[in-house]
Amino acid sequence: MPGRSERPVALVTGCSSGIGLRTVPALSDRGFHVVATMRNAGGRTRPPELEGEHVSVLPLDVRSAGSVRDCVDTVLGTAGRIDVLVNNAGIAPPNFVEEAPLPEWHEVFETNLFGQVTVTNAVLPAMRHAGRGRVVMVSSLSGRVPTPLLGVYSASKSAVESYAETLRLELRGTGVRVALIEPGAFRTGMWHSPMLDADFPKTSPYAGDFARLRAFYRDYIDHHLGDPDRVAQTVARVAAGRGGRRLRHPVGADARTQIALRAALPWAVYERLARALVGLGGRAGKRAGKTEPSDAETVR
Ligand SMILES: NC(=O)c1ccc[n+]([C@@H]2O[C@H](COP(=O)([O-])OP(=O)(O)OC[C@H]3O[C@@H](n4cnc5c(N)ncnc54)[C@H](OP(=O)(O)O)[C@@H]3O)[C@@H](O)[C@H]2O)c1
Repeated sequence: MPGRSERPVALVTGCSSGIGLRTVPALSDRGFHVVATMRNAGGRTRPPELEGEHVSVLPLDVRSAGSVRDCVDTVLGTAGRIDVLVNNAGIAPPNFVEEAPLPEWHEVFETNLFGQVTVTNAVLPAMRHAGRGRVVMVSSLSGRVPTPLLGVYSASKSAVESYAETLRLELRGTGVRVALIEPGAFRTGMWHSPMLDADFPKTSPYAGDFARLRAFYRDYIDHHLGDPDRVAQTVARVAAGRGGRRLRHPVGADARTQIALRAALPWAVYERLARALVGLGGRAGKRAGKTEPSDAETVR
């Protein structure tokens, strides 16, 4: 970390890859000194995004209160300020909500929701004292429009949406602004899930749906994911105060379209469309409990 920073300081979580990594140069280009944080800050070759003059790299695990405290204390003790917090770190293990084991639910919520709460609470006193600051929460289209196979993740991001909205209302008048970034689907490590390559138990009542959903997601991942730089640029624009007074910032045509359809359509119409879009036809009630007829025990 440099000494007292003339530049405004932006602290970003989850910078080892994907959107967080791309956000580092985007913020630096907008005049910030960027504190790029990650769970494992040493021991590997740093990508060029982290080598800039106005970038410092520090360890931070959003699931460890001690690690969060150490990181925030280091930044405030050296740079003397944190002007922007970008809560970006997140995980999205796919599963059917009924089949996801409880420890998986805990891991997702501890990272995606409680992680954001822990880091935000560590930073807010300094922002409040300064009478200014921005907290940018990387949520997701899934937080507004839940998707089959991403239900645990969607639930955590819906909670982030609710948390951010309340925080924004409660911080009104303090000079601290809260914003939500809602990306659609972008090309990052989040989509490299072992589940999409692994066997799936044929005995599961979801085996047939899994085969269809996997075909849909594989095609989507191969052909339709957007460039994560678009999300990074939106984060940086909002962090720099160029996002207007809006709370929510959807990114990508898929996000804007699906949010609009979800709000406009009656549920019965939306439900048919949402299932058809991901390759699931038919009526949900008819499938329950049925498995695909086959001698094999797993879907490959
Ligand atoms: N890609 C998309 O289509 C998309 C769409 C909507 C929203 N998002 C959101 O964008 C954010 C970034 O995800 P991404 O797409 O860039 O995926 P990614 O490449 O997998 O990046 C996720 C980042 O979060 C970090 N992380 C996970 N657990 C952490 C922890 N306990 N403490 C600190 N860092 C942790 C990862 O670090 P490690 O290397 O240590 O695992 C990694 O740096 C997430 O909040 C995600 O929900 C992504």
